[in-house]
Amino acid sequence: MKILITGGAGFIGSNLAKKLIKRGHDLRILDNFSKQIHGNNQSLDSELDGVDLIIGDVRNKSVITQSLDDVNAVVHLAAETGTGQSMYQLEEYQHTNISGTLNIINHLLHNEHSVEKIIVASSRAIYGEGRYSCKKHGVIYPDERSEIEMSNGQFDHKCKLCNRNLEAEATPENARIAPLSFYGITKQVQEQIVTMYAKVLGISGYSLRYQNVYGPGQSLMNPYTGIMAIFSTLARNNQTIRIFEDGNESRDFVYIDDVIDATIKCLSPDMHGIESFNIGTGNPTSVYKVAESIINNLKKFLSGFGAIIETMKPEYHDKILAITSHLPHLIAYTIVGTATDLEDQTKHDVVRFSATGFRDFTRIASSDPIMWRDVFLNNKDAVLEMLQRFSEDLTYLQRAIRWSEGEKLEELFTKTREIRRSIIKEGQDI
Ligand SMILES: NC(=O)c1ccc[n+]([C@@H]2O[C@H](COP(=O)([O-])OP(=O)(O)OC[C@H]3O[C@@H](n4cnc5c(N)ncnc54)[C@H](O)[C@@H]3O)[C@@H](O)[C@H]2O)c1
Repeated sequence: MKILITGGAGFIGSNLAKKLIKRGHDLRILDNFSKQIHGNNQSLDSELDGVDLIIGDVRNKSVITQSLDDVNAVVHLAAETGTGQSMYQLEEYQHTNISGTLNIINHLLHNEHSVEKIIVASSRAIYGEGRYSCKKHGVIYPDERSEIEMSNGQFDHKCKLCNRNLEAEATPENARIAPLSFYGITKQVQEQIVTMYAKVLGISGYSLRYQNVYGPGQSLMNPYTGIMAIFSTLARNNQTIRIFEDGNESRDFVYIDDVIDATIKCLSPDMHGIESFNIGTGNPTSVYKVAESIINNLKKFLSGFGAIIETMKPEYHDKILAITSHLPHLIAYTIVGTATDLEDQTKHDVVRFSATGFRDFTRIASSDPIMWRDVFLNNKDAVLEMLQRFSEDLTYLQRAIRWSEGEKLEELFTKTREIRRSIIKEGQDI
């Protein structure tokens, strides 16, 4: 059986392709290597070497014609996938997700073909907020929470009849379909197109409503990817994981291998028909739990290399880093910047007579400008607070020098020498 995977270079597609190859299937992959997901990389994972690859776009009808030649089953995964992004990039989402799907169906309707089955990737996003239950009033499909509720810190869905907090439930396939994003609408339309035309074409059609899929192979450069990838990238880069609301909002996180097994099950010759399936675990996990387990795993991993792990509150961490790392960089950039401003008169002499103090500052001031721009902009509050204190201390020193108050200078310099000594004593002088 020859299988076409559209979007086969992506997270789910490449994992699916690897498993199908191991099982001896003949594959073709169609993918346009979207820059948002792949950056400048235009090649498949090395485990997929030798797979029949068409680099092309599902929006292009002649690419679809070429891709469907001699194929028995299609797994249609190619899509724009960002929920938030879809709210303003309407045309991109419409063209790739809806028109791309129509191109496949249109080809099958109007041409001889060998396709017996089509599987389309749908999403939990078609359910919007999903299904909840009230202890007194049973199943409820709540509306989106209002801005007033959110700004009052009321994040739980409430029963409109008795004002009780609602409990999230696993959402069954026959639940109300009510997408809350344009992405969700395109997924709903994609699956309706596929399941309706599968009937017209007399072939099998499955729409797989994937929940939040995680695992190896997820694009870490796509800013619209899921929270697993975003949180783990932040944690690995020692950046703060910001959780909005109260962290109790829950999702069903499903591991990639289970998603692949479910997809392959639908490809098996003994599965015939037209149906939609939820692909998830059925268990809710809160966003807070996700962040916590990523941090715990990272701690375990780093401790394995002998690292000592400290845990601190985000505000405290930001303050400490502001004074120990961010401000020294800001001062170095300023001192070297001031010297550069005097360039015409001193350019050569600044370099020729640079004392070790100035040279140390130039080393710090040669750090990555883009990274430091982002550090300052993302840690505004803590940096501005430390900068204010620093300016006050600088004014104090300025006055002491102006009024020849040597004892004030000496007192401060003695204190600071102690800091240096304790750094050496702690073995931090490396
Ligand atoms: N990952 C999840 O958690 C999740 C959840 C629900 C549904 N889905 C659906 O599953 C499918 C696969 O998701 P994924 O996580 O592997 O996404 P992904 O972004 O990793 O992969 C999508 C692939 O499609 C390709 N592509 C995008 N636009 C294209 C176009 N116009 N023509 C050809 N190729 C194009 C991209 O280059 C990429 O390789 C998508 O349809 C997505 O909506 C994924």
